[in-house]
Amino acid sequence: MRNQKAQFITLEGVEGAGKSTQKDALCELLDVNGIRYIETREPGGTPYAENIRALLLGSSDEAPQAKTELLLMFAARAQHLETKILPALKRDIWVVCDRFTDATYAYQGGGRGIPRGWIQTLEKLVQGERVPDLTLFFDVPVEIGLDRADRRGNLDRIESEDIEFFERVRRTYQEIATRDPGRVITLDATVNIERLTQEMISRLMGRWGLKCRPG
Ligand code: TMP
Repeated sequence: MRNQKAQFITLEGVEGAGKSTQKDALCELLDVNGIRYIETREPGGTPYAENIRALLLGSSDEAPQAKTELLLMFAARAQHLETKILPALKRDIWVVCDRFTDATYAYQGGGRGIPRGWIQTLEKLVQGERVPDLTLFFDVPVEIGLDRADRRGNLDRIESEDIEFFERVRRTYQEIATRDPGRVITLDATVNIERLTQEMISRLMGRWGLKCRPG
């Protein structure tokens, strides 16, 4: 492997895009190449931030306002970034994170209509200049994704939004990917799992100069 600093990798997409399966395949790729990494997720990733996650995704009689939701996402992120992500990267350990700030632009920005400038302000406050080194965006038409998520059952508060909400979420992800092609790799998640994995692995091997592929 080329001399490569520890990478901060995020996975994004609408519900049912197949992120979890592909995260496992990515971790296997890192394993066979002897790369040390941690797996984590947002919102959450630390005990405190997981409590905020429960608050965010659980259903209760009182739904949070869009601004409340936005601030809680960043509250959880501040905790997660400072106590888990940055310390790992500092120790040269890679970080594989299921969702990060792109999800805030997509869900709270695109989905809920929060102005992009507000999110940029909070991003700067919480993250400074820190952004992921690489983002894998699993793109799938909303009906297909929601159908898969439905079949899994147990939709959380945000997953229970209507189809128009997720259309806006998907569009925002696509806009982010178009604006930042150096960081965001878009993968067509309509193909079957094996093909999607193959495509992802070959893109990553090329990018990082890895020699060993899983399996
Ligand atoms: P998950 O189901 O992929 O674990 O994601 C949890 C939910 O949280 C998902 O519906 C997307 C949502 N979310 C946001 O709305 N904003 C964010 O910033 C993050 C990280 C997640």
